[in-house]
Amino acid sequence: MTSTALTGIGLLVTHDPEFGELRDAALIIDEDRIAWIGQPADVPAADDATDLDGRCVIPGFVDSHTHLVFAGDRAPEFEARMAGQPYTAGGIQSTVAATRAASDDELTAHAATLLAEMLASGTTTTEIKTGYGLSTVDEQRSAQVAARLSDDVTFLGAHVVPPEYADRPEDYVALVTGPMLDACAPHCRWIDVFCDRGAFDADQVRAILTAGAARGLGLRVHANQLAHGPGVQLAVELGAASADHCTHLSDADVQALAGSATVATLLPGAEFSTRSPYPDARLLLDAGVTVALATDCNPGSSYTSNMAFCIALAVREMGMTPAEALWAASAGGARALRRDDVGVIAVGARADLVALRAPSPVHLAYRPGVPLVEATWKDGQPISARL
Ligand code: NIG
Ligand code: FE
Repeated sequence: MTSTALTGIGLLVTHDPEFGELRDAALIIDEDRIAWIGQPADVPAADDATDLDGRCVIPGFVDSHTHLVFAGDRAPEFEARMAGQPYTAGGIQSTVAATRAASDDELTAHAATLLAEMLASGTTTTEIKTGYGLSTVDEQRSAQVAARLSDDVTFLGAHVVPPEYADRPEDYVALVTGPMLDACAPHCRWIDVFCDRGAFDADQVRAILTAGAARGLGLRVHANQLAHGPGVQLAVELGAASADHCTHLSDADVQALAGSATVATLLPGAEFSTRSPYPDARLLLDAGVTVALATDCNPGSSYTSNMAFCIALAVREMGMTPAEALWAASAGGARALRRDDVGVIAVGARADLVALRAPSPVHLAYRPGVPLVEATWKDGQPISARL
């Protein structure tokens, strides 16, 4: 057993109802878990100690929506958008071609590089989707690569219909719900569908999610990103853990989310990078909806891996307070993944922590673009320390 005392914490934000926010705090990490939280005067003996010299400590970020398994780059598409071209789901096909051509080792190395970038910026839990393979073999490869890097792997064979099925989309749905699901389910915890203009319609979404649920997978939906549609209502009706994007919502969508256990996961990096209107987080929060923030990290619509950037956008553009945005980026993400061991600093929770070079987490939005993450602990291990 190895235990570490973190002392000299100027402000500890726990997201745990028992402790809330503590000034002048200390905590004990025992192996991969938090074993004790309290005042410095009471700190129990530990094998070693690190003095944080007044730094603020927050839970590690939980990025509950990423597409890290891909090859290639779409910077020219981004440049064209910034010059006025609209974003369409069609750009996904160029990443599919590059991903199919890449080896497993190349896909793994690239995803691991992105994951390391995320850890260094304070993200300690990352969901990873497939969705750039779109053939049985390439989706299975993508799921296997993701499973090497995350416990929360999502099968997104229903991202878009690939070109070889363009004139027979129902055959593609049969593939996704049959052999492709069989090949991918053993590596996945979740299934997701892109329910939107240019992607899958209500009947197809229902068929795909129902097949995934029958295989024991939890449900997630890319819903209402590009246009209003049935995605949010289907997510709630089918008991999905999360409806993601939620950019175009009717009053009925907001009410449905508010009365459900489905988290609304907002992805402001996508609105930033597609020059689209941001979702109205204030409306959702005031209605009582549980909101998560995530990066949507992917090469097309949102090529950021940085949760602090998403927090800054949510505060500046979406009506969230800094405290709400911080909660959504950690505890909210944990809710979206139906996990209670992350996103919170509590006795018994995973020791996934971030020390900020700042007096409070308000600085994450107040000082956008500044690398305030000085140290990250994942499962009790210091990952990147600049202390
Ligand atoms: O979540 N909306 C669908 N999928 C991704 C975009 C993928 C891409 O453009 O490559 C998203 O934004
Ligand atoms: Fe996405």
